[in-house]
Amino acid sequence: MSVVLLLSFSLFYLYSSISTAQSPSQSYPYGISYHIDCGGSTELTDRFNTAWQADRFYTGGSTAIVSEPLRFKHPQEKTLRYFPPSSGKKNCYVIPNLPNGRYYVRTFTVYDNYDGKSHSPSFDASVEGTVVFSWRSPWQEDLARSGAYSDLFAFVSDGQADVCFYSIATDPPVIGSLEVVQVDPSSYDSGEIGQGYILVNYGRLSCGSGQWGPGFSNDTDLFGRSWQSDSDFRVSESEKSIKTVVTKNAIAGTEKSPNYFPMRLYQTAVAVGDKEELEYELEVDAKLDYLLWFHFAEIDSTVKKAGERVFDILINEKNVKRIDIFKEVGSFHAYSWNYTVKNLSSTTLSVKLVTVAGAVLLSGLENYALVPADLATVPEQVNAMKALKDSLKIPDRMGWNGDPCAPTTWDAWEGVTCHKNKNGTALVIFQIDLGSQGLKGSISDQISLLSNLVSLNLSSNSLGGTLPDGLGQKSLSRLDLSNNQFTGSIPETLTSSSLQLVLLNDNSLEGRVPEELYSVGVHGGAIDLSGNKGLCGAPPLTECPLFWENGGLSYKGKIAVGVSSAFVFCMLLLVVYVICLRRSRHDYDFGLPQDLMSLYAKRNRYQRQKSLMNLEMESQHAKALQSPSTPR
Ligand SMILES: *[C@@H]1O[C@H](CO)[C@@H](O)[C@H](O)[C@H]1NC(C)=O
Ligand SMILES: *[C@@H]1O[C@H](CO)[C@@H](O)[C@H](O)[C@H]1NC(C)=O
Ligand SMILES: *[C@@H]1O[C@H](CO)[C@@H](O)[C@H](O)[C@H]1NC(C)=O
Ligand SMILES: *[C@@H]1O[C@H](CO)[C@@H](O)[C@H](O)[C@H]1NC(C)=O
Ligand SMILES: *[C@@H]1O[C@H](CO)[C@@H](O)[C@H](O)[C@H]1NC(C)=O
Repeated sequence: MSVVLLLSFSLFYLYSSISTAQSPSQSYPYGISYHIDCGGSTELTDRFNTAWQADRFYTGGSTAIVSEPLRFKHPQEKTLRYFPPSSGKKNCYVIPNLPNGRYYVRTFTVYDNYDGKSHSPSFDASVEGTVVFSWRSPWQEDLARSGAYSDLFAFVSDGQADVCFYSIATDPPVIGSLEVVQVDPSSYDSGEIGQGYILVNYGRLSCGSGQWGPGFSNDTDLFGRSWQSDSDFRVSESEKSIKTVVTKNAIAGTEKSPNYFPMRLYQTAVAVGDKEELEYELEVDAKLDYLLWFHFAEIDSTVKKAGERVFDILINEKNVKRIDIFKEVGSFHAYSWNYTVKNLSSTTLSVKLVTVAGAVLLSGLENYALVPADLATVPEQVNAMKALKDSLKIPDRMGWNGDPCAPTTWDAWEGVTCHKNKNGTALVIFQIDLGSQGLKGSISDQISLLSNLVSLNLSSNSLGGTLPDGLGQKSLSRLDLSNNQFTGSIPETLTSSSLQLVLLNDNSLEGRVPEELYSVGVHGGAIDLSGNKGLCGAPPLTECPLFWENGGLSYKGKIAVGVSSAFVFCMLLLVVYVICLRRSRHDYDFGLPQDLMSLYAKRNRYQRQKSLMNLEMESQHAKALQSPSTPR
């Protein structure tokens, strides 16, 4: 294993030092990628040689085809998956077995009136339990018709990528395709930003170029990033003097760890005249902070020394940086610079490049919203809830998918109430309310992991099986399991909780009721155990048969059994002894050693004595009969 890893790393350094022009694809150490054609039923390869997998890893929903498939260039864009209300409010794609690390996640979202209802849906999408996209009806006309790609970078730390959809007002969420590509975990300065943020793409611009990158052209980007033209974001005043600069020369310092920016990004640029400025307006959400990445390369060979092209970067009119590309890295070499914008006061972010010497030149600009990762449910409680989902046979319509509690802005799983844990670092299950839901399963003993559960109501279902030992966490105060078909005994553990209300009536429970349990009523709470034919011990119920308790023997019973076992053991010993004696007699009947001979003789003597005694008694008796009054 380690040998293979070492090999791939040394290959990587070899390639990147020999030539930047060579495709580094074999040497890129983050090899995992999924391209899922949502709603698609066959594996296919698009015209850029990307292999798409048939739809998989979803929790529910149905498939559909856009209304005008011929308008869509790629086969994977023509099919979609939608999640109608019958699939539940929350559905997910869960990509399993991912090494923990950082991933580029791209979705293609399309409506194109696939359902003939001319109503683009309202829904939210989350990645790893954090809301990242919100679609609200009606969508912009062109988005609804042609669909849109959205992407982000997120950390995965639980071995699987969860992309979940939450229906708003019963609208069915839709998804056309889903891509997940592993990237360098230290890319985009994650060391400084921390793993607690998702970087949502608010514009990834390649200056002086059309749209390119995976999904749009044959140009590679190892992270799967696609780059769009900057022209739509330029402020029109600077339009007239815009000059596009293009080179075919190789650019050094590209496709390097940790960001692997593609060479193509630096081979085009826009420049403005000597006295002009270059301005972009980026739409933002003022509540968030933004991470801007600027990309430069001196690709005009007439610039030959530092100081010939110098300009300032102004963000919302604030001068934040002076750039002299040649001074930093020379020519035909990539140079990137980043800046985090905080405390925004408007929904437009202005980025202006103003000349100091020579013309302004820009190759690319990225803008990411820093979306703080939402709280997630404590992992062991997630596992417990998944086990309960299976054991209780929760129907699809309840949408028990993804994290039970997160994102916090969505409702938790239907019938589930969550709280923050004590130190506010995670979410925990507080209440489960699933009365009268037609459930037919049983209670998993993993329920013991729900250590903050205060109230459990599973009444009036058709649940069966025994009550697990795990039921009775200290936190539990209200328990309503009435009107089911639970069998077996009431677990001893149920007594160790702070129960206030215990409704176990109308089941098929049996055995002795733990004494501490019926003290619930004594402490001012309420308990109902009626309608269980087999229960015994607690006051209104019948007395339990001797030694019988909780479907087994009581402690006293066990002592009694212990005592009687000892008695039986002694009796056995005695029987064995007697048999041995008998055997001894038989064994030695034919060759009698001296002492056994004497024993035999004594026994005979005893018998003789006994016979004599009998004879004496008989004779006395006879004498007495003959003459009762006659003294001897
Ligand atoms: C992309 O490259 C493949 C060969 O790798 C070629 O067959 C295909 O036509 C190219 N696609 C476009 C759109 O240029
Ligand atoms: C990004 O900006 C921060 C703060 O200015 C700086 O510390 C960091 O080195 C920059 N990262 C890169 C890769 O330039
Ligand atoms: C942003 O605002 C907060 C409080 O509103 C302040 O503490 C912080 O210093 C500001 N940050 C910047 C970069 O202005
Ligand atoms: C918060 O509390 C949980 C237990 O409830 C504990 O596991 C975790 O380490 C605590 N975190 C912090 C930051 O104190
Ligand atoms: C449990 O849920 C049922 C409805 O399904 C309700 O009638 C009952 O009162 C609830 N039990 C408690 C203890 O709240």
